[in-house]
Amino acid sequence: MNLKSHRMFVLIVMVILLVMGLLWYQLNWNRKVNGETLGYWHQIRVDGFSTLRKELRPVSEMAKGDLPFDAAKVEEQSMQVFAIAQTLPSRFIANAPSGDALPGIWAKGSDFNERLARFVEQTQALSEKPPSDYQQLRLAIDQLQTHCSECHKLYRD
Ligand code: HEC
Repeated sequence: MNLKSHRMFVLIVMVILLVMGLLWYQLNWNRKVNGETLGYWHQIRVDGFSTLRKELRPVSEMAKGDLPFDAAKVEEQSMQVFAIAQTLPSRFIANAPSGDALPGIWAKGSDFNERLARFVEQTQALSEKPPSDYQQLRLAIDQLQTHCSECHKLYRD
């Protein structure tokens, strides 16, 4: 084989591998679990967490001191945070590791469900008894955010 045809050969092999990779990716993404595609399960998880982050933002900014403490707003957002948080477990019922959700979530001995349940409980407590001053708010937001980062470290890519 001369140099030119050798290069051509390498190029063709690379193109074939790329096409196979894309096909595999596409097939995997469209693989169904519990009647829905992996892509679907990933999307509803991201939607849930994005809403959670959005509803939490005003109070986390208050906790940082970027916004003035506003008891009525804290109460309102606490309800919203709990409302979305309690839908999170149902978004993980299918064993659908895709996107940033690691397979460990559904592995034997995983404490993912307990962690998520504890997190939801905490948002419930927050909605039932919203922090009534800045100090309480800071503490509550700190505790919530510890849940976020600990779980992400273990179960999110
Ligand atoms: C019990 C585990 C757990 C807890 C608690 C948790 N997360 Fe997550 N989060 C995940 C997993 C797993 C994913 C990846 C989902 C996927 O990619 O399908 C994720 C994804 C996200 C995303 C989507 C990222 C993107 O791609 O845009 C955001 C935003 C997010 N989390 C914010 C939060 C915030 C804010 C909190 C706390 C208030 C939190 N999460 C608490 C497990 C958790």
